[in-house]
Amino acid sequence: MNKQTEAFLLDTGAADGGAPATADFSGRDLAAHIAAEAPPQIGVSRPHESAHLHVAGTATYTDDIPELAGTLHAALGMSARAHARIRSIALDKVRAAPGVVAVLTAKDIPGVNDCGPIIHDDPILASDTVQFVGQPIFVVVASSHDAARRAARLAAIDYEDLPPILSPQAAHEAGSYVLPPMHLERGQPREHLGKAAHRDKGHIRLGGQEQFYLEGQIAYAVPKENDGMHVWCSTQHPTEMQHAVAHVLGWQVHQVLVECRRMGGGFGGKESQSALFACCAALAAWKLMCPVKLRPDRDDDMMITGKRHDFVFDYEVGHDPQGRIEAVAVEMVSRAGFSADLSGPVMTRAICHFDNAYWLPHVQIDGYCGKTNTQSNTAFRGFGGPQGAFAMEYILDNIARTVGRDALDVRRDNLYGKTERNVTPYGQTVEDNVIHELLDQLEASSDYRARREATRAFNAASPVLKKGIAITPVKFGISFNVAHFNQAGALVHVYNDGSVLVNHGGTEMGQGLNTKVAMVVAHELGIRLERVRVTATDTSKVANTSATAASTGTDLNGKAAQDAARQIRERLAAFAARQAGVDPSTVRFGDDLVVAGELRLRFDELARQAYVARVQLWSDGFYATPKLHWDQSKLQGRPFYYYAYGAACSEVLVDTLTGEFRLLRADVLHDVGRSLNPAIDIGQVEGGFIQGMGWLTTEELWWNKDGKLMTHAPSTYKIPTVNDCPEVFNVRLFENRNAEDSIHRSKAVGEPPLLLPFSVFFAIRDAVASLGGYRINPPLDAPATAEAILNAADAVRQAAA
Ligand code: MTE
Ligand code: HPA
Ligand code: MOS
Repeated sequence: MNKQTEAFLLDTGAADGGAPATADFSGRDLAAHIAAEAPPQIGVSRPHESAHLHVAGTATYTDDIPELAGTLHAALGMSARAHARIRSIALDKVRAAPGVVAVLTAKDIPGVNDCGPIIHDDPILASDTVQFVGQPIFVVVASSHDAARRAARLAAIDYEDLPPILSPQAAHEAGSYVLPPMHLERGQPREHLGKAAHRDKGHIRLGGQEQFYLEGQIAYAVPKENDGMHVWCSTQHPTEMQHAVAHVLGWQVHQVLVECRRMGGGFGGKESQSALFACCAALAAWKLMCPVKLRPDRDDDMMITGKRHDFVFDYEVGHDPQGRIEAVAVEMVSRAGFSADLSGPVMTRAICHFDNAYWLPHVQIDGYCGKTNTQSNTAFRGFGGPQGAFAMEYILDNIARTVGRDALDVRRDNLYGKTERNVTPYGQTVEDNVIHELLDQLEASSDYRARREATRAFNAASPVLKKGIAITPVKFGISFNVAHFNQAGALVHVYNDGSVLVNHGGTEMGQGLNTKVAMVVAHELGIRLERVRVTATDTSKVANTSATAASTGTDLNGKAAQDAARQIRERLAAFAARQAGVDPSTVRFGDDLVVAGELRLRFDELARQAYVARVQLWSDGFYATPKLHWDQSKLQGRPFYYYAYGAACSEVLVDTLTGEFRLLRADVLHDVGRSLNPAIDIGQVEGGFIQGMGWLTTEELWWNKDGKLMTHAPSTYKIPTVNDCPEVFNVRLFENRNAEDSIHRSKAVGEPPLLLPFSVFFAIRDAVASLGGYRINPPLDAPATAEAILNAADAVRQAAA
């Protein structure tokens, strides 16, 4: 170190009180200290980056952004009919209502009246025909939110009713689909069904689910000079919102800027379906040249937006006397709703998760996306995966009772092998299988065998209250099943005070993505996490992003941010090495310090010096997931970079005279590879578990005979509360590392845990089966509402009598 540098360092160090001292270490000791003892920035539990804001009520959601003077408020006028031709629309009363500034219809759209993410069958505002109750027809813009909502009800629309299709079965019978059917076949399923020792067939109904994000859909559009538009939007997909707004206005994409600091939950519901709100707000803002906010209330949100696809399955299965599957054929029909939206990729994922964790030697899967006159169903945590896997678990649950064996034993006998029986029906080899060890550990830690016996003993002495227990495994494929979506970008700035600002293409919806990405950057630069701040997602900073979806947020954006941070570190290392006269590869970063030979600097000191020396202190970063290929026409390839595994053991108590149940205890063991942040990962596992339990038990979507969704508010749609959480909830992370080179060998955690509460559903079924001496398969569909459980209990009692 030369004298000048030394003086500069002392100077700046002195001026910067409170920072850690550097004088205690000689260069060599410090390097050793960094290598051996530097507190790790990854793999440690850290609170969510906004936790203190969430709990204090100071986190800014879209509706909390201070409104500009002159902001107007929009509301949507919606169809009252499931399927009709619009003869006429009279909007005079709407226009005359107090506070109303404008009423816009499809005719006011200068560009394309469509916001479909893949197929362009998704009108923003219906013009000639309406296709579901709740479909937006016009936008009212008024001086207040309340005035807009009141006015929206005053339209007189003359409809000529057309016959509606209101269920997936009806769509299938009518041959009404939003996409061509999909077909996947391996081996000779028909032949082996014929040869199997045991053969069974059945029909399974599986309900949909409302995302029920706590913050509803919202967009706030502000016109900018020279035909520009800035849209703040609660969305998982800012780039797609940018595209949609540009299309609706007939603009180039660069004219639109979309920004999202955070969402109060998305759960898939804001992957594509935030577009309608962004487009309507932007249309009104453009038309009136003033800021317009559109925030539908909860009921309107639920009436308009799509949900998890409900499915019906018809299957035939052939198995041996032990319950090992030899051949299986399944027909899956989903409720796509009135338009395609993401129903194609959802069905693809359902097909690719029908195997769950099991080897299916001969298999045939047919998937149909039923076109119905209901909301256009969309992404929801798991994205069809939970639906496909649920069907297989149901089939195995039946087989176990048929052959009179413990369901866990039957499940285990069907698992993928480690080196053989390990190719999925879609041609991907399962190379990272840890489900055997994981189940061993969970079986022991949950004390499954003894507790199973205990439930039997309890039930023998308890005529009304019945206990049930079940373990179910999960294998979930990670990557977008559209290969080109698996890319991400990031922009990292190091300011000359050593503080770091990170921007990446992902969005924060509560899942902790920003926290994890900040940790990755802090680790890469060897600095304290407090130095790193992550900013709002912004289409003008990182372009052409993918949705934050498919659980890939951290995998993709973590790698992209690491790439950016690494480039900055390399430049800083080269600079420090020049100063110290050493090789750049010997420069060490850690514990907020940088050591190069005899030179030792705090990170902020180095940043300041590097700036003065005109070293570029910011960088972009990019990542594209390797190894992926997929042929959608053949449903063959390697759609997933790796798999995440997990299993859960649930024990329930069912009141067989009311149909009510309680989850008494749940034990979860879940694989997140090498966890980046165990606290956040456990939070994701717990949240996913409870959310999935709600789907399979109390959450029921119900449309009346006219196709109107009657469960459009929390008064009629029952999501789980803290009271529904089990008193004993043991959630652990499985000791593992990703076999693939993912970000620090971690694994995605967002969606896979949603499949863990299959164990709750099958524990309920186990309890009900006790009424028939465990010989009769209870006819219990999902959701297992109190009504459904009661009906199944009655059916089993009758069949056993
Ligand atoms: N967790 C919270 N708190 N809120 C959410 O909206 N969405 C889930 C999951 N966990 C969600 C969540 C869904 S559907 C996905 S795909 C992932 O988070 C997306 O984020 P990630 O890829 O960063 O895990
Ligand atoms: N998950 C979520 N969104 C998607 C996917 C997926 O697998 N594929 C395309 N969009
Ligand atoms: Mo999640 S359903 O992929 O947004």
